[in-house]
Amino acid sequence: MKDHWNTIYTQSSEEKLGWYETDLTPTLYLLEKAELLKEARVLIAGAGSTTLVDELLSQSYTNILAIDISEAALNKLQERIGKESDNVQFIVDDLTNPVMLSEIGLVDLWIDRAVLHFFTEQTDQVTYFNLIRSGIKKGGFTLLAEYNQEGAIKCAGLPVQRYSVEMLQENLGGEFILIDSFDHIFTMPSGDIRPYIYTLFKKQ
Ligand SMILES: C[S@@+](CC[C@H](N)C(=O)[O-])C[C@H]1O[C@@H](n2cnc3c(N)ncnc32)[C@H](O)[C@@H]1O
Repeated sequence: MKDHWNTIYTQSSEEKLGWYETDLTPTLYLLEKAELLKEARVLIAGAGSTTLVDELLSQSYTNILAIDISEAALNKLQERIGKESDNVQFIVDDLTNPVMLSEIGLVDLWIDRAVLHFFTEQTDQVTYFNLIRSGIKKGGFTLLAEYNQEGAIKCAGLPVQRYSVEMLQENLGGEFILIDSFDHIFTMPSGDIRPYIYTLFKKQ
């Protein structure tokens, strides 16, 4: 997987990636609902070279953690944001076989857009949901945005697990309360569309 993703990020320009976003409205709408302090620890799982980091920095967030299996992706991200990278911790790790992540401490918000849905093996799903559940402070949040039940069956050449709100709730467990959810149609740089489910859960 590491090689797969490193190859993608090495061979493609960021703007051509199928998941490249210029409009972060659905994420920002849910982020506002979490009413976080600017010093809050915001973890972006499978961050890739996401423009969400630039946006959070422009909103004066100072404690961002960008995790990805691909070093190439995080290098691109770090180069792009330049000196602002002091406010971002870059961590290369595998969310389904975490090593570094056990040492980062609890976070206020765990964001996952288009990452969880790549974990099609049940053992990987269980590992990752445990990581989310145990990695968030009490009163903290998780923002999960994945292909919905009408979504595509593949992304980046890999099969995906499509989700509903109920499936996400079941995997997170009763400790997490649904704050909001909605469907969102994402238009890829190619013009194709991808239906997502966006959710925000709060840990009690
Ligand atoms: C479709 S991209 C989404 C990137 C970013 N979340 C966004 O919305 O722009 C999926 C990302 O997940 C990362 N990824 C895939 N499997 C991973 C794993 N097991 N551990 C950590 N990151 C992973 C990939 O390297 C890639 O950056």
